[in-house]
Amino acid sequence: MQYPEGATPLDNDELEGLKFKHIQTRAELDQMEQVNIQKGLMWLDKQKQTDILNLQFIRKLHQRMFGEVWRWAGTFRQTEKNIGVDPLQISIRLQNLLDDVKAWIEFDTYPPKEAALRFHHRLVFIHLFANGNGRHARLMADALLKHEYSCLGINWTGHDLLHQGEHRKCYIKSLRQADAHDIQPLLSLFELKS
Ligand SMILES: Nc1ncnc2c1ncn2[C@@H]1O[C@H](COP(=O)(O)OP(=O)(O)OP(=O)(O)O)[C@@H](O)[C@H]1O
Ligand SMILES: [Mg+2]
Repeated sequence: MQYPEGATPLDNDELEGLKFKHIQTRAELDQMEQVNIQKGLMWLDKQKQTDILNLQFIRKLHQRMFGEVWRWAGTFRQTEKNIGVDPLQISIRLQNLLDDVKAWIEFDTYPPKEAALRFHHRLVFIHLFANGNGRHARLMADALLKHEYSCLGINWTGHDLLHQGEHRKCYIKSLRQADAHDIQPLLSLFELKS
């Protein structure tokens, strides 16, 4: 299977978790995932007052986005990837992140867009799941904006982030700069929806 730059290849056990054995190509997989993600989005839109800053919600959203395609959806990664922390560190690193985000909200540390993009980057940096981290962490950033900052979300769709191309290149580059503690390029790349 072909992966675009900055994607995490799956190992054999993870591929075993594919619920549809007839899938042959990356395009077919993308399509199945996309249908599932639409349902996850509808589920997310229906959530009214909800606490999104906890492990249960974060796993639940991934399950809702990918559970029809992958048996391991909603469960944390157990293998090392080219991106992400040691799998044994995932829960603790996520808990630290959630504590940080709660403090950002309480002390108004960052404007909403910056809080959401920092949250997005820290999530993909930890790399919670075997796959789907980018797409999940984009929805998580939007959920943070909606439930904690009363904003509509980030305008991600102005950019094609899913396929190899100029937009994805800039996005991945800005995440690498954020890995090196420069969040500015990521901030310049995206705007809030209005
Ligand atoms: N150097 C990096 N630092 C932090 N995050 C990164 C880095 N490189 C890639 N990422 C993130 O990891 C994602 C790829 O991980 P994964 O394959 O689990 O997610 P995905 O939703 O399936 O995304 P994709 O469609 O991009 O493959 C990218 O979309 C990006 O958000
Ligand atoms: Mg992927």
